Amino acid sequence: MIHTGRHFLQIPGPTNVPFRVLRAMDRPVIDHRSAEFAQLSLEVLQGIRGVFQTASPVIIYASSGSGAWEAALVNTLSPGDKILLFETGRFSELWRQIAERFGLVVEYVPGSWRRGIAASDVEARLTADSSHSFKAVLAVHNETSTGVTSNIAEIRRVMNQLRHPALLMVDTVSGLASADYRHDEWQVDVSVSGSQKGLMLPPGLGFNAISEKALAATRTAKLPRSYWDWNEMLKFNAQGFFPSTPATNLLYALREALHMLQEEGLPNVFHRHQRLASATRTAVRAWGLEIVCEEPSEYSNSVTAVFTPAGHDADRLRKIILDNFDMSLGAGLGKLAGKVFRIGHLGHFNDLMLAGTLSGVEMGLALTGIPHKEGGVQAALRQLAATSAPAPTLWPKS
Ligand SMILES: Cc1ncc(COP(=O)(O)O)c(C=O)c1O
Repeated sequence: MIHTGRHFLQIPGPTNVPFRVLRAMDRPVIDHRSAEFAQLSLEVLQGIRGVFQTASPVIIYASSGSGAWEAALVNTLSPGDKILLFETGRFSELWRQIAERFGLVVEYVPGSWRRGIAASDVEARLTADSSHSFKAVLAVHNETSTGVTSNIAEIRRVMNQLRHPALLMVDTVSGLASADYRHDEWQVDVSVSGSQKGLMLPPGLGFNAISEKALAATRTAKLPRSYWDWNEMLKFNAQGFFPSTPATNLLYALREALHMLQEEGLPNVFHRHQRLASATRTAVRAWGLEIVCEEPSEYSNSVTAVFTPAGHDADRLRKIILDNFDMSLGAGLGKLAGKVFRIGHLGHFNDLMLAGTLSGVEMGLALTGIPHKEGGVQAALRQLAATSAPAPTLWPKS
């Protein structure tokens, strides 16, 4: 089928890459041992700290988010170590799989995939662990498979209240630069992220923001590591270099994306995402469809997962929308396969892009014969018009 105009990439990552970022990448590769390169990498290594809201180092890998998951574990833990991981959806499952392949003993706390991590669960598990056998607590901040967020500040509060010494590791692959995320304030020890979501970059960069405590854990951590070794990276990064060949053009892209985030201002970035997410949910409710996330305080800024009515295949809906309107929506993952479609509303995204996205969904629902009420788009447009976008203010460069 021939399609004209722009493809609508409305999966929850990879996201639409702005022209500014594409142009910034469209340059010759330079010598990664040169002074010019060092200037670029020192700028992005510093700039990315602002997005994690940390003064600590952020490691940048040429990798996907999964590499950054692995890096968090192998730098801090030893075979046989016990870790506590909460089931939030498909991505908590996959992180668990990596941990188990490395011989870590995972206590996997069951979850419904419709709610975030309950502070009471954290409290119960850690209270029962009076011998402090858990070496790390792992949480997914924004579960991309369900559109549910977990309250990381609350998890830290419980850990501190119980004086539990475990490291706190958080996956914010689809939360960073879309929802407020505070590595330092929440005393996160390792924050894991990737380039292809809120940061508006192509896939290919993985991130670990690391606390002093996490860095200290590398001294006793016995899991084998080479490429992922933080200390090796930090040694080179101090001079603006990398131990092996870095993804130079993705670093150009990162520099431009950081400039864009700075120009808009992080609080405005979060507000924009929150507003577009809210209008999305208004449309879904007006269609009479059910949102996967059950708790309003846990709605995701980045993605809304929506159930199709029983007996109606969500993948058929996605295919009809792709074939007819050239729009990609996220599939249901794991146990939600075929039952759910996901609308990505993160990264380089605005009111009219959302209007187009929701129009594609509403037309797709009609074409597929899925029972729904008309008027979801209209309801979302009314809400967008009533909540004007804030004027960008300059993000103070600290
Ligand atoms: C929350 C979350 N964690 C981890 C990952 C894994 O990242 P990647 O697919 O880049 O390896 C993803 C990917 O979508 C994700 O959404």
